Amino acid sequence: GCSCSIGPSILNADLSNLAAECQELIAAGSDYLHLDVMDGHFVPNLTFGHPVVKCLRAKVPGVFFEMHMMVSEPEKWIEGMADAGADMYTFHYEATDNPKECIRKIREAGMKAGMGINPPTQVEVVLPYIDLLDCVLVMTVNPGFGGQKFISDCMSKIEFLRSKFTTLDIGVDGGVGPNTIQQCADAGANLIVSGSALVKSANKKQCIYDMRSVVDS
Ligand code: DX5
Ligand code: ZN
Repeated sequence: GCSCSIGPSILNADLSNLAAECQELIAAGSDYLHLDVMDGHFVPNLTFGHPVVKCLRAKVPGVFFEMHMMVSEPEKWIEGMADAGADMYTFHYEATDNPKECIRKIREAGMKAGMGINPPTQVEVVLPYIDLLDCVLVMTVNPGFGGQKFISDCMSKIEFLRSKFTTLDIGVDGGVGPNTIQQCADAGANLIVSGSALVKSANKKQCIYDMRSVVDS
């Protein structure tokens, strides 16, 4: 059976219709939602913040929200996101001087803690924090935009982590869809983020089914 969970990134969805887009993705078989927050500083783009997440939570109850915080000073938004109903707070290793303190605050706020690493970042940087983390998110594009090309060089990072940590949640994010999910699953990722490949597909239910059947076979 498939031990992968599929979490859509709604970055390339119709953001004026966010709640309906999320509901449709859940109805199509998604396991959770990956919500991309950008601050125009850590990455050269802007999306939305905790006030939007709070409204979304009211219309999409009971679904696991992973906040992908592509922001400088990630400590700033921990309380706001917890209060908005976020379940996991994934910050970037590159974005803070004090990852341990950031993780401590995330836990104190009652959320799960994830750490993301950009394609140029060495995987070994996460090792001092592994025991404190619920998830490592391995980026397979440089964050900032949906619809970029999957960087398969990053698979070696997932393989490295999976060889060391059999039960760690390992996420993969960027350019993942029916054509690239196999590599991710083979490397050992179990949290699969899929943005444009899924959101722009003609049949989302079929697309999720296709992704699951690739990794199931
Ligand atoms: C990158 C974001 C991703 C990404 C997913 O900045 O973190 O979540 O846009 O979208 P696709 O699958 O289109 O790369
Ligand atoms: Zn993301």
